[in-house]
Amino acid sequence: MSHDTNTTEYGSECTHKHPMEFDEEPLVALHCLSHTYPDGTRSVHDVSFAVFEDETVGLIGANGAGKSTLMEHLNGLLEVQAGELRVVGELITDENVELARQEVGFVFQDADAQIVAPTVLDDVMFGPLNYGASREEARERAHEALERLDAGHLVDRVPHHLSGGEKRLVAIAGVLAMDPSVIVMDEPLAGLDPARERRVREVIEELQADGISLVVATHDVDFAAAVADRLVAMTDGDIVGDGPPDELFYDDALLQRANLEPPTAVRMARELDVEEADPVTEDELVAALSRRQAVPGP
Ligand SMILES: Nc1ncnc2c1ncn2[C@@H]1O[C@H](COP(=O)(O)OP(=O)(O)OP(=O)(O)O)[C@@H](O)[C@H]1O
Ligand SMILES: [Mg+2]
Repeated sequence: MSHDTNTTEYGSECTHKHPMEFDEEPLVALHCLSHTYPDGTRSVHDVSFAVFEDETVGLIGANGAGKSTLMEHLNGLLEVQAGELRVVGELITDENVELARQEVGFVFQDADAQIVAPTVLDDVMFGPLNYGASREEARERAHEALERLDAGHLVDRVPHHLSGGEKRLVAIAGVLAMDPSVIVMDEPLAGLDPARERRVREVIEELQADGISLVVATHDVDFAAAVADRLVAMTDGDIVGDGPPDELFYDDALLQRANLEPPTAVRMARELDVEEADPVTEDELVAALSRRQAVPGP
């Protein structure tokens, strides 16, 4: 599964493959997107980005690379100024932006931006209610989503009074309650304590096992290596790499261009001379080391 990674100069004609030309229809696709903020900052230029069924895309890049800007286009939070957005094959316009909101759930980097109601329960119920669920059904889905995150005890709290980590769990619950086809998470582990971080990682694994597609933006390369099937690397508003973790994380020139360090497992594999096995996670490194030990010496 791959898409064009060519980038073009901003303002020149974008020649990327159109989403309709892929062998498999993407669930979400941005085509030749450019975005300029009101103050004139050009945050992404001529980027194309597609998410297919049953995959987790890790969107990596340094601070200011354009990850959040790109992601905020995937469910119509930011309006497409130049280029196009398709969700489940449909071209998204002002008239059907609700389709994007429903199919693509978004967990913000800044959890405060996501709070809409005076209690946690109302907040998590908001999405399902907004899309036609009965109060009873919405309440059931909200409780289920909160329990799934070990956050059931927060149900009657005031969202604005929660800690940053608790707010993030509530935001994730709000998205889970909507049951979207694609879930976009902007730095989902930021600010979580080790136990909650582990729970969110487990929930991500459960979502993957359920066949939900995910887009996870992070500058934590170890996390990206552990979670992603495919990586898309951004720098200065461009996509500069697209491929499996065991390729991208061994491409030093690319990592340098994207201002990122290799994951710990890659650095250790080089130190320990097992890099030919291309491990990118701790588990893969351990497996490569034990295979080497299993080989009888000369
Ligand atoms: N509301 C805004 N107004 C003006 N410029 C903005 C705004 N939001 C982002 N930018 C600029 O757009 C560029 C891309 O920012 P973006 O937030 O998308 O990067 P990012 O990769 O998500 O970074 P981080 O890892 O720090 O979250 C940066 O130059 C940033 O300063
Ligand atoms: Mg960001």
